[in-house]
Amino acid sequence: MPVQIPSDFTTNLLMFFRLLHFVGGVTWLGLLYFFNLVNVPFMKELDPATRGKVLPNLMTRALWWFRMSSLLTVFMGFAYWQTIVAADAHNGGGSVGTATGSFFLIWTIAWGLMYACLIPGKGALDKGPVLAMIYTVILIAASVAYLRINDHGWESNRLLAIGIGGGMGWVMMLNVWGVIWRAQKKIILWTKDNALNNTAMPEKAKYLGRQAFLTSRANFVMSFPLLFLMGAASHYPMFGR
Ligand code: HEM
Repeated sequence: MPVQIPSDFTTNLLMFFRLLHFVGGVTWLGLLYFFNLVNVPFMKELDPATRGKVLPNLMTRALWWFRMSSLLTVFMGFAYWQTIVAADAHNGGGSVGTATGSFFLIWTIAWGLMYACLIPGKGALDKGPVLAMIYTVILIAASVAYLRINDHGWESNRLLAIGIGGGMGWVMMLNVWGVIWRAQKKIILWTKDNALNNTAMPEKAKYLGRQAFLTSRANFVMSFPLLFLMGAASHYPMFGR
């Protein structure tokens, strides 16, 4: 059977973007699942001296790949999505600006609201199930808003599924850089200092640890609807035309 390699530049460039998007996504979510399923319980089992040695070395490396792969996934996914938005808008006589602008506006506001509800160590908002319910309401509201604003009849299932699933990816990336990494870089330094110089861990460490933990759990749970919507874009027509 003859093999046909597409020779036009755009097809090859887009395939390259897709490939980088998958490689980034697998690395990112692979590490996220490792943190949630293996590392959190494992770290609890270590005695403080061993933890002081293991945690800084392991987490510095793991979080570097985690942060970089989140950027690669989102930027490549976004670049690819822009070609879908541009084609839809061109064919339907619509505007790229509304689909793209509303994406950043809605999902950044959703992230801000989620961040505002994250108050570790205080009352009901410290509890995972309560946060999960609030986050679900915020994500559903953001999804409905995105669908309402982008309802001119020309938007395709691909545009809309990624407009929502990719929006969750944007929220997850803001969580990685804006919450998890900000907290973890301090915890890593303090743990190192504690192991080397016996310096006491600051009071804030507990708060930041819990904040990073809850956010990481939220990203873990959000990755499931995200992956569903990534897959639905081209294989499960549920939105638009
Ligand atoms: C954790 C984050 C993400 C992961 C793991 C992920 C994973 C995937 C996977 C597995 C596919 C393949 C679906 C298929 O061909 O059936 C896909 C497609 C795609 N993703 Fe993502 N993705 C993520 C975030 C994003 C973001 C943030 C955007 C854009 C803003 C995006 C845009 C796209 C686009 C445009 C496609 C192609 C859809 C199509 O061909 O119809 N992704 N993604």
